[in-house]
Amino acid sequence: MIRLVFLGPPGAGKGTQAAKLKEKYGIVHISTGDILRENVKNMTELGKKAKEYMDAGKLVSDDLIIEMIKRRINADDCKNGYILDGFPRTIAQAEALERMLGEDSKSLKVIYFDVSDDLILERLTGRRVCKDCGAVYHVAYNPPKNDRCDECGGELYQRSDDTEEVVKNRLSVYKEQTAPLVEYYSKKGLLYKIDASKQPDDVFNQIEAILTG
Ligand code: AP5
Repeated sequence: MIRLVFLGPPGAGKGTQAAKLKEKYGIVHISTGDILRENVKNMTELGKKAKEYMDAGKLVSDDLIIEMIKRRINADDCKNGYILDGFPRTIAQAEALERMLGEDSKSLKVIYFDVSDDLILERLTGRRVCKDCGAVYHVAYNPPKNDRCDECGGELYQRSDDTEEVVKNRLSVYKEQTAPLVEYYSKKGLLYKIDASKQPDDVFNQIEAILTG
């Protein structure tokens, strides 16, 4: 059973690598950001509460996120494992995950995506996402063959939180509230650091080495 946590700043490439792992190994990809965006799109109660925070680059409240994850990881498709992408993001969320998993929390592999602030800004302001299937592109690093999604032909859009101003907010929120998790998981002996500034295939090889090591 594989239980991975992808930890790292916004734009580090967590979603990109989770999609590759899902394609090659069929591991379930749980992205709190994707679940929240789906709720915003469908104007659910959760979406209405989350939107304001997301647009400002702030974190949604721990209670809402923890409840959402508890439900998701207990679903049938998670029986053989999953990748948690974007959770936990605070110490309180990490402690809640530990309570949810009990003894199993000791088998978590937390992959820390290390990348510089300059690269993050470049990656996020150039990111484009497919409205229909969620495939992720970059105008320079991974451009679509034409203006539409290579996978499904869907329309591409820029996330509302990928503007320079909001990215800077997200980065400072990350440093204040999420970065402490690096030390938290390092002390527990669960942290694996990778160089996320490399090409996507190189980053993928680093992750595979951890999975098989
Ligand atoms: P979320 O959607 O999780 O955003 P994030 O963590 O900021 O991560 P991103 O999706 O922006 O980046 P990524 O690392 O997946 O990068 P990607 O692979 O796309 O969260 C959004 C919001 O939801 C939060 O701000 C918060 O409000 C809320 N939220 C979510 N979880 C929460 C939680 N647990 N608690 C509270 N609130 C929560 O890559 C980025 C770009 O770079 C792409 O264009 C890609 O093509 C390109 N790229 C990727 N890898 C490479 C590479 N190796 N080389 C060159 N380019 C690359």
